Amino acid sequence: MAERIDHPCVQHKLAIIRDTETGHKRFRELATEITMFICYEALKNVRTKQVTVQTPLAEAPCRKIDTDLVVVPILRAGIGMLDGILELVPTARVGFVGLYRDETTKQPVTYYERFPPQIRGGTCIVIDPMLATGGSTVAAIDRLKEGGADSIVVVCIVTCPEGIERVEAAHPDVTIYAAAIDERLDDNKYIVPGLGDAGDRLFGTSH
Ligand code: PRP
Ligand code: URA
Repeated sequence: MAERIDHPCVQHKLAIIRDTETGHKRFRELATEITMFICYEALKNVRTKQVTVQTPLAEAPCRKIDTDLVVVPILRAGIGMLDGILELVPTARVGFVGLYRDETTKQPVTYYERFPPQIRGGTCIVIDPMLATGGSTVAAIDRLKEGGADSIVVVCIVTCPEGIERVEAAHPDVTIYAAAIDERLDDNKYIVPGLGDAGDRLFGTSH
């Protein structure tokens, strides 16, 4: 299942981050800001427990998050979303999966993996700005499930129907949250209209 976050604040920022005139400094800031909004929505079903809090006046029935949160950026571009989610849930743990998409085959190649043990029993939030063919996201979820994770959501900035279908087919239990579900992939498997190469725009490595 995929859910698009249609809030005007998100859509306004999306319009700016897509703009080819937006430089890497502003691109990074916007990635952080958009991520906060999407993650806020993505965590709406996270497990909570009832607690009683003593206010200066009386006891108040309250709820607190009752699961270990593990944020998993897909390297490298996922790093651009990490500050945003940690702003929202500062006590979250962070695991890493290093994947790049081979330029010729478009298949994901894994080069790094380091997860905290709390992926087992906790809630994992996979972050990557672009979910294009879905190959990288499926590979990241595969790695997490092999490590024992069974509660996983995906947060991206832009995706497309092809990528959503691939993730749904491989992992029907995983919900994808995105600011945009774009039309299609081009011949290079880039999302159109998309926002270009997210890693290059985040880190200033484009020509
Ligand atoms: C981009 C992006 C995703 C992947 C999406 O990363 O950040 O990880 O491509 O494509 P897919 O859905 O077709 O797998 P890239 O491979 O460019 O690596 P980078 O993050 O190091 O720039
Ligand atoms: N990776 C990107 O950075 N952008 C796309 O559109 C597809 C893959």
